Amino acid sequence: MPFINMKGMQTAEFDGTGVKVSVIGVGTWSLEGPRSENIRSIRYALDHGVNFIDTAEMYGTEDIVGEAIKGYRREDLFIATKVWPTHFSYHDVIKSCNDSLKKLGTDYIDLYQLHWPNSSISIKETMSAMEKLVDEGLIRYIGVSNFSVDETKDAMKALAKNRIVSNQLEYNVATREIEDEGIYDFCRKNGMAIIAYSPLSHGKIFGNAMIYNALEEIGRKYGKKPAQVALNWIIRKGAFPIPKASNLDHMAENVESADFNLSDDDMKILDSLYRKHPIRSIASRYRTH
Ligand SMILES: NC(=O)c1ccc[n+]([C@@H]2O[C@H](COP(=O)([O-])OP(=O)(O)OC[C@H]3O[C@@H](n4cnc5c(N)ncnc54)[C@H](OP(=O)(O)O)[C@@H]3O)[C@@H](O)[C@H]2O)c1
Repeated sequence: MPFINMKGMQTAEFDGTGVKVSVIGVGTWSLEGPRSENIRSIRYALDHGVNFIDTAEMYGTEDIVGEAIKGYRREDLFIATKVWPTHFSYHDVIKSCNDSLKKLGTDYIDLYQLHWPNSSISIKETMSAMEKLVDEGLIRYIGVSNFSVDETKDAMKALAKNRIVSNQLEYNVATREIEDEGIYDFCRKNGMAIIAYSPLSHGKIFGNAMIYNALEEIGRKYGKKPAQVALNWIIRKGAFPIPKASNLDHMAENVESADFNLSDDDMKILDSLYRKHPIRSIASRYRTH
């Protein structure tokens, strides 16, 4: 049974944590336009029941998120950020986390993620710093991003007392390599949340006529826009999409992507799109197997 929060947004447990997170999150990479508009857009999402915001030290948007969340009850929010791979030594992880905390203007990060794997620094060293941050209460949960099955297994083994709660991966209706590579199933079986980044294919699904037309046609049945259908497809797959929208109208559309349910037949039609019109993942070019 889906749980709806006080603002009418569907939430789900962030796998195995007991924490309820809105099924739609907000991405903040490559925000465009004036800072005040970005803040307005994030606040719009928060005011409409979204409580999950994703950022990263690399995006340069942590301070924007920090400003946007001022005045909201911290315990209602789920703030995720990431440490960049060149900062994976023990001391750099600690430093990056403290820098992120300052920019975010908060005492703790809900989900701290390793942004990409880095084979040149021992994962044990990196994870011992992550566990120190958990011990000190500076981060609540440890996540990874762009990790293959083998890299995730190594990361799991490198942890002494915590678990990896999530893997943030490129996933959308036209980019589904994570299913082919086995990491989608691996996360599911091991109780890790899948955070679907580039859920609108960084805007590319809107430029592909075959995909766009299929999304539009299905959307008409539900009174929904193509983006809303694309995001609902991800939610139905059990992942958390984190679309980025600098444009307030886009944000308003995105927060209304969870209040309907694509039928099994429509899911099947959308499932068939990837084989016919795949959009290649950026990440699979870098992910090792
Ligand atoms: N872990 C990683 O390595 C990684 C990599 C990439 C991304 N991410 C995360 O995932 C988030 C989202 O991915 P993304 O930024 O690559 O792209 P995305 O969310 O797939 O797509 C963003 C594009 O779609 C447009 N858009 C948003 N909502 C729309 C709507 N309702 N209708 C029409 N167009 C819409 C946006 O336009 P406007 O901005 O003009 O509204 C923007 O051009 C990032 O912000 C970041 O937090 C993580």
